[in-house]
Amino acid sequence: MWPERYPLTMRLGSDDLNAQGVQFEHAILAVSLMKERGLDLADLSLGLNTADLATAPFAQLGFMLERARRLRSEAGIPVATSWNVGVPALADQVIREEVIDLVMLGRPALANPHWPVWAARELAHADPFSLVPEDWGCWLRNFRAHPACIGWPLAKTGEGPA
Ligand SMILES: Cc1cc2nc3c(=O)[nH]c(=O)nc-3n(C[C@H](O)[C@H](O)[C@H](O)COP(=O)(O)O)c2cc1C
Repeated sequence: MWPERYPLTMRLGSDDLNAQGVQFEHAILAVSLMKERGLDLADLSLGLNTADLATAPFAQLGFMLERARRLRSEAGIPVATSWNVGVPALADQVIREEVIDLVMLGRPALANPHWPVWAARELAHADPFSLVPEDWGCWLRNFRAHPACIGWPLAKTGEGPA
């Protein structure tokens, strides 16, 4: 029995982009039924259950967002998604505009484990380092990396090695 105090979430392969595979309409139906049975949030992904995709959208920014917006409105459930949403301005916008409820990160988190701090800096947060536990924040605040270091826009801010 799932404890009531924990959210019940599910990652869903919602669209195979192939006429032989899962169609997005079926995913909406499936999530609606699961919502009735206690699902709290759906994490929307592609299907990738078939050998090929009719269109391969992998170079497009936020290509699951339109489906996520539809699922959120038609199934009436909080929705998360990933797939090229790791651009701070886009992640911020889709939360503010209530397109989705939660941004998931795959490769951006691998490329920069401190993505949330970097994103906060990009979004001009007053104190990005306060967003992580103090023992990390203290070390990161005093970190002066090589300007080419991924995710740390030293050249832009004028900061650099002391
Ligand atoms: C190393 C790696 C392993 C992954 N493993 C899974 C997996 O087991 N199941 C899954 O549904 N998605 C998996 N994914 C897909 C991610 O969850 C995510 O949807 C995808 O990377 C797109 O988001 P991104 O643009 O933020 O990377 C994986 C991605 C990466 C990079």
